[in-house]
Amino acid sequence: MATMHPPIHIRIAGGGPAGLTLALLLAQGSRHRTHGPLIEVEVQEALPGQGSAGFGVVLSDETQGEVWSRLPGLADRLSPHWVRWDDLWVHHRGQATRCGGHGFAGLGRTVLVQTLRELAQEAGVKLTHGAALEPGWDGEADGGQMGAQALPGVDLLVAADGIQSAWRTALADDIRPRLTWMRNRFAWMGSTAPLTAFHYHVVETAHGPVVAHAYPYEAHRSTWVFEMDEACWQGLGLHLLDEAASARQLEHLFHSALGGHPLLTHRSHWRRFPALHCERWWTEVGGMPVVLLGDACASAHYTVGSGTKLAMESAMSLADALLAQEVLDAQGLRKALALHETRRRVPVEILQHHAESSAQWFERIRDHVALPHMAFAMALMTRSKALTYDELVRRDEAWMRQVDDAWWQRAATEGLQARARRQAGDLLRPLPPMYTPLKLAGLALAHRVVMAPMAQYQADALGRVGDWHLMHYGSHAQGLPAILYGEMTAVSPEGRITQACPGLWNDVQEEAWRHALSLVRRQPEVAFFMQLGHAGRKGSARTPAAGDGPLAASEGAWPLCAASPLPWDEGWPTPEALDERAMASIEADFVQAARRALRLDVAGLEVHAAHGYLLAGFLSPLTNVRTDAWGGPVQARLRFPMQVIRAVRSVWPAARPLSVRLSLCDWADGGLSEEDALAIGRAMRDAGVDLVSVSTGQTVAHQQPRHGRMWQMPFAELLKKRLGLTVMGVGAVTTSGQVNALLHAGKADLVALGRPWLADPFWMRRQAALDGVSLPGSPAAYAAGWEQVERQARQPR
Ligand SMILES: Cc1cc2nc3c(=O)[nH]c(=O)nc-3n(C[C@H](O)[C@H](O)[C@H](O)COP(=O)(O)OP(=O)(O)OC[C@H]3O[C@@H](n4cnc5c(N)ncnc54)[C@H](O)[C@@H]3O)c2cc1C
Ligand SMILES: Cc1cc2nc3c(=O)[nH]c(=O)nc-3n(C[C@H](O)[C@H](O)[C@H](O)COP(=O)(O)O)c2cc1C
Repeated sequence: MATMHPPIHIRIAGGGPAGLTLALLLAQGSRHRTHGPLIEVEVQEALPGQGSAGFGVVLSDETQGEVWSRLPGLADRLSPHWVRWDDLWVHHRGQATRCGGHGFAGLGRTVLVQTLRELAQEAGVKLTHGAALEPGWDGEADGGQMGAQALPGVDLLVAADGIQSAWRTALADDIRPRLTWMRNRFAWMGSTAPLTAFHYHVVETAHGPVVAHAYPYEAHRSTWVFEMDEACWQGLGLHLLDEAASARQLEHLFHSALGGHPLLTHRSHWRRFPALHCERWWTEVGGMPVVLLGDACASAHYTVGSGTKLAMESAMSLADALLAQEVLDAQGLRKALALHETRRRVPVEILQHHAESSAQWFERIRDHVALPHMAFAMALMTRSKALTYDELVRRDEAWMRQVDDAWWQRAATEGLQARARRQAGDLLRPLPPMYTPLKLAGLALAHRVVMAPMAQYQADALGRVGDWHLMHYGSHAQGLPAILYGEMTAVSPEGRITQACPGLWNDVQEEAWRHALSLVRRQPEVAFFMQLGHAGRKGSARTPAAGDGPLAASEGAWPLCAASPLPWDEGWPTPEALDERAMASIEADFVQAARRALRLDVAGLEVHAAHGYLLAGFLSPLTNVRTDAWGGPVQARLRFPMQVIRAVRSVWPAARPLSVRLSLCDWADGGLSEEDALAIGRAMRDAGVDLVSVSTGQTVAHQQPRHGRMWQMPFAELLKKRLGLTVMGVGAVTTSGQVNALLHAGKADLVALGRPWLADPFWMRRQAALDGVSLPGSPAAYAAGWEQVERQARQPR
């Protein structure tokens, strides 16, 4: 029983899935509360009649499970209406493939909203429609922003007023929304075409590819979302057509996909999708708390079909937080809002990250359409990064086999036969792609997984590697990465990052490397690549263990040089801009170190031109502001790095691979553009670079990178798909499922992992054991241990 407190009055602006779900949960929850005041809920919907309309929405089995268990009445009433399916079809270049096991249901949006309304009303929610609940403008505030007024008698205002939220606009100063408009044009239509599964159709026109995302939501009704890039949209003249005329043109283009059925329109105008993030989800207006909910607060791109999921799950979170309060007074309400935001923000942001990755994939569809059919389908399935190879094996193993088979057929045409093999008993399944060899110049790599270069900060004061490196590289060689990269090795004393970084500018250092690599040499399957670099303005630093930051003069600091006299960060010394003589001298330093690397007989060499070090500093317009022939347009910024790379190439034998590491995005305004990245990629190809190792950032201290799993891969993919370069990608790749998905989707030729190898020198061997794969070159001394691991991996878990 609720107590004798005066009731709490909650007003909800907007009767969409978010507002109605919240209202229903609060009304039901309030009845069952044994403490605190009654909650009176009122929903005000702007549109007359049934409120918002539209075609179908998609809910995954997982979301349905959660929604139905929280709102059992909803499941009962909706079950006659929804259409379930497991299959996703991909239609591309005259071929079609079906991947099963996905578990979704389509539902008419009107049915969903109407049913929520009925249930809410039955639970005692007051519903009004036909008049907007506006923020009650209180005139121009500072800076021209409109403010909002409190509503008399309302204890909490929930702004569930959709993506165009007037409340969010009025409260923008506090809420700080960030809207990023996705580039593609899309229109949401319906059709009488009967479907029984989800279909992606790609139709290639003279102006570019058009994609349809189509799914059923009633027996004879399906939703069709069409999208394309701006050039295609304008090329097809769709920008000049109204909804009806656009539908007629799309009916013509998608005639066979639609089976001759017409398209239906309802507010189906062409739009661009706004990706919305808010720094705060709630604030106060004249003492009245206001919280944003659903699309008003956070959007998720339609290509992951999760806008309704996000809206309804956020409503559940808010209802839980409110109902959990013992005392729902002014303070209790604020506690509830804070609790809701704390609990819900991370899941929302993860989903938004996946949604944005998915949206960006469709924006680059021109780069993907040329992929072979099964690779295209795999790239499409894994575009949001939420699904990996392993998850797809779980959902539809037969389909994954088809994708693997297609991969190996293509590999065979390139003369690549697997050298690894499956354990007996599972011979029918092809190997995942990461076990494919690769030819780089004259070098045959055993597979596609690499250990990224990682500084150890363990060299002695003379820049010599020692016992640590013998152990470190020796044990990692036993783990069998295809390439084992050495850490950044300085070409001169001033080129070191720290006093604990190794060098390769004199004989004692060369000798020390010879000793440190002696165990690596016992593993002929592992290719060791020496990474040569010059720290530029980021040198003369303390080690991370000593707290980073610049060395003091008393600690042995040395003078810094760079493309331009710009310090790395506050408190750092200003470097001297290199003149031509100094450039020639540094070029010679790289050449002598390359000669030493050749004497050390390492399999490959990498020039480090990434992460804001000296050569990278020339490439980025943020760090190269020179007005002479070495700065300005990208071709001029490329001059010095290319001079060094060509000089190294000239002494490094053609049969041994030369790789170059690049940061292809600075994550800061005014940094490298996509055109710059492509120009840099072309320069690598022209200079005979065999492998481009693509990283990003660390160019400027004020960078704002967008982290996430596999976050740097789009930059590797750009060079691979636009220029056909052999590329290696890196960054937050932690599982073999991710590696295999990346390779299948054609994002990279090699995948490098950094931190996972630090934690486990046997990362690769462990994955192989789990996959039932025997790798060539297994160390005999450890055979008994690995036999046990492999045996255990075969046992049912
Ligand atoms: C092309 C496309 C495809 C989509 N496909 C899917 C899908 O497959 N699956 C999925 O889950 N989601 C999908 N969505 C997203 C989904 O429609 C929304 O994310 C979801 O409806 C959000 O619910 P909401 O209640 O927050 O907002 P809305 O559904 O937009 O509801 C907001 C309501 O507030 C009303 N309103 C606006 N202003 C006021 C005001 N001042 N006062 C009172 N009322 C007001 C509006 O009339 C509206 O009824 C898709 C969206 C698009 C654009
Ligand atoms: C401890 C450490 C040291 C690193 N040192 C280097 C280096 O010497 N040269 C280089 O190019 N990158 C260096 N990196 C970057 C890694 O090569 C890699 O790009 C990065 O760790 C991202 O991969 P991950 O997410 O798999 O760790 C270093 C990274 C770590 C964690």
